Amino acid sequence: MAVLVTVATKNGSTGEIARVIADALTERGVPAVVRSPEQVDDVSSFDGVVLGSAVYAGHWLPEAMALVDRGSGAWVGRRVWLFSSGPVGDRARWLTRKMSADPVDLPRVRAATGAVEHRMFGGKIDPKTLPVAQRVALSLFRGMRGDFRDWNAIRGWSAGIADALHHTSAR
Ligand SMILES: Cc1cc2nc3c(=O)[nH]c(=O)nc-3n(C[C@H](O)[C@H](O)[C@H](O)COP(=O)(O)O)c2cc1C
Repeated sequence: MAVLVTVATKNGSTGEIARVIADALTERGVPAVVRSPEQVDDVSSFDGVVLGSAVYAGHWLPEAMALVDRGSGAWVGRRVWLFSSGPVGDRARWLTRKMSADPVDLPRVRAATGAVEHRMFGGKIDPKTLPVAQRVALSLFRGMRGDFRDWNAIRGWSAGIADALHHTSAR
């Protein structure tokens, strides 16, 4: 059994989530490899695929969407799990709640991949990685900077994927 974990990341924090997912799968007996979407030609050699993207202005990154389109027919017969990484800040705040909405592209991604499910995980904003204009904009929204990734939730989700794949292969 082999699983591909492929995610689009602009500033690296979603890439770190990919690594944790792959390690959690491998620890549970599901060998997983991490590749950036640009490195993936064909998903058909994998039993399962975890496909994710950071969300910017409500959208998945173009590299992830290009893979969705490139994979076309090969998604059929694969088990696919989707995740997005984005929301930052206090969940009680309007802007953070708005960020937590499904990305605009999700219906298209679901339709193309036939994914089992989609999860939204918190993201990370380090002002040092942002261009000056975005840094200035961020300073207007207090409490948005920081690391909001929930590693327990990410590991728990990965464990569920490993269990589902073991269950299928045992049938
Ligand atoms: C300019 C900008 C726009 C963003 N837009 C959204 C958004 O619409 N929805 C969301 O959930 N997160 C949004 N975020 C938060 C990012 O998705 C979050 O920082 C994520 O962890 C970045 O992942 P990366 O480090 O892999 O690029 C935005 C961040 C920036 C800097």
